[in-house]
Formats: sequence, C-alpha cells, structure tokens
Amino acid sequence: MLAQQLNKNLSSELNDLTLAFVVRTQNHWSPEALERFQSYLRKNDYIRHEADLQDSLAQAQEIFMEDASRLFICTGKSCSKRRKFDISEEGLEKLAHEHNCSILTTKCQGPCNQSPVATLRVGENCQMFSQFETDNDLSAVLKYVKRAANSSNALIQALDAEPFLFNPKQDRRKPSVALKKFEFLVGLFRGEGSYLAGPGTFWKETTGSWEADGRFISLRAGTTYLIEGKQETYNSFVMIGSNADGKIEAWSFGSGGNAESHQLIKENGRICFIDKMERKPGERRLQKVLVPGEQGYEELLEIDPGSGIYEVYSTVKMERA
Ligand code: FES
Repeated sequence: MLAQQLNKNLSSELNDLTLAFVVRTQNHWSPEALERFQSYLRKNDYIRHEADLQDSLAQAQEIFMEDASRLFICTGKSCSKRRKFDISEEGLEKLAHEHNCSILTTKCQGPCNQSPVATLRVGENCQMFSQFETDNDLSAVLKYVKRAANSSNALIQALDAEPFLFNPKQDRRKPSVALKKFEFLVGLFRGEGSYLAGPGTFWKETTGSWEADGRFISLRAGTTYLIEGKQETYNSFVMIGSNADGKIEAWSFGSGGNAESHQLIKENGRICFIDKMERKPGERRLQKVLVPGEQGYEELLEIDPGSGIYEVYSTVKMERA
C-alpha cells in the first residue's frame, strides 16, 4: 500500500516536472535540453526507463495544447515568494472564466530571476510574462490574455502589459519593472551644489548601476566639501530595490558607519527618501528628494527642524557626464 502510494506520488511529481519542461521550452526543445532534463530525472529517481519519460512527455504535450488558449502560471519557489496576488483554485477558475482562457499552474518555468513568470499559449504561439507581482500587474497581464484569446493571436499589441512582456531568449537580464521609474539614476553624474541659507559650495559625483541582474540599483556617491581651505570627500552607498512586501525601499550607508533604511515615495514628480527611523515629536528630520530632469536630476536635502515642515537646506543639479 505504502509502495503504491509512493509510486503514485512519484509519477504525479514526474508529470508536474514534465509539464513545466514542456511549458518552459514552449513545446520545442533541443536534444541537449531533453538530455539535461532526463539526467536530472534519473539522478533524482523520477524515472528508471526512457519509456517513463516518453509517456509523461506525451501527456504533458497534450495538456499544453489543450484548449484554444491556456495560461500557465509558475508556482515554483521564487515565483511564489514574489507574487502578491491570490492564486487559489477558485480564484483562478473565476479569472479563467472572466478572461476566456483556461489557466493552469506549473512548477518552475526556468527564469527564476524574472519571477513571477507565466506563459500564454494561443494556438501554436506563445508569449511569456515576467515580474507581474501585484493585483494591478496581474490585471494588466490578464487583459492582454483576454484580448489575445479573443483574437486567437498570442502576439498582439501589449498596451498596459508592455512592461511585463518577456522573451526568454533575449531578456534573461531584463531590469526590474518596479524600478523602471528610477532608471534615470543609472550612469555617471556630476554637479556643483549650494546652500539656500548661506554661502559655500560642494561638489558631488554619483555612479548608478543596475545590480543583481537588474533587480536593484546601486548609487555610489562622493561629496567633496571645502573645510578650512582643504578639500575633503565623504563617500556613501545606496541600494534601491523591492522589500519583502514588494514596496520600493532604499538602504543607505554613510562613511560615518551609519546605515539607514528609507521608504521611497513619488509625488508631484519628486521622489522622496523618507527616513524610516522613529523620531520623537519635535525632533529634527532630514529627507533627500530627487527631481528627474532632461540631462540628469536635481537632488535636494530638506530639513524639518521639528516643526513638521520640511525646508530646503541644499540643492545640487546632477548632470550626466
Ligand atoms: S520559480 Fe518560477 S521561474 Fe523558477
């Protein structure tokens, strides 16, 4: 009884893995890809004979091609971790009905660094999506799915789903969709800054780069001040990315050894780095504000002396070098 149950579990696991393989190759695999898949299955005792895999493949291909259109949502580890929307069975059934397309979940589809991912098949053609994390993102993807299913064409005009389109052959390192609005920080920038309340200048240089295959942006900055007739440079490092809740945050590290985290808020064309540290009422607060422009961005340091109102302390126009 126990051995029978074990065999049943193994074959259902094998079929799930095989379906994910067919989806990830969009039903067109190379002999090398099949060889790699087969040796993984052998090594992990999912198959003993080649025929086991052939049967499983035939079944997976049938499932892949069933229905005029079908969306396969990846529920592998990385995708499940980053996804913020519900994919309960009832929820998916409802969405499938509303969007005229059957929906199945699969094991890992391959490009985990682009999670969450999904593959849409309409007729013989496929379109992949990546980095759709929130309910709003999912809604944009599902609108695409519905239009594609209704027009029997997987490759339609993307509209709102454009940021989520993913080509597994070309986009393996597609930068973070959520960080697209911070792309203006990537590059080398220089600027001369001034203080609003008094004389004096300072010089700043920043290098912004995509990190970790485009899932974070790092900013390395050096600010030079004239102190008692001598130039002194202070370095800092900021990392911008999504936190576990999918919200964009910044983690900053200063040359004094201080490390702080900030919430990033975009309002009226300004990006405010709000200090997340709890402050007592009446305590002084600082915030950095970035205003993107044509050739770079303006950086303002604002101070709330304790009154609850921020005032500009210094400003520097950073120009792309
Ligand atoms: S877990 Fe979804 S692509 Fe790997």
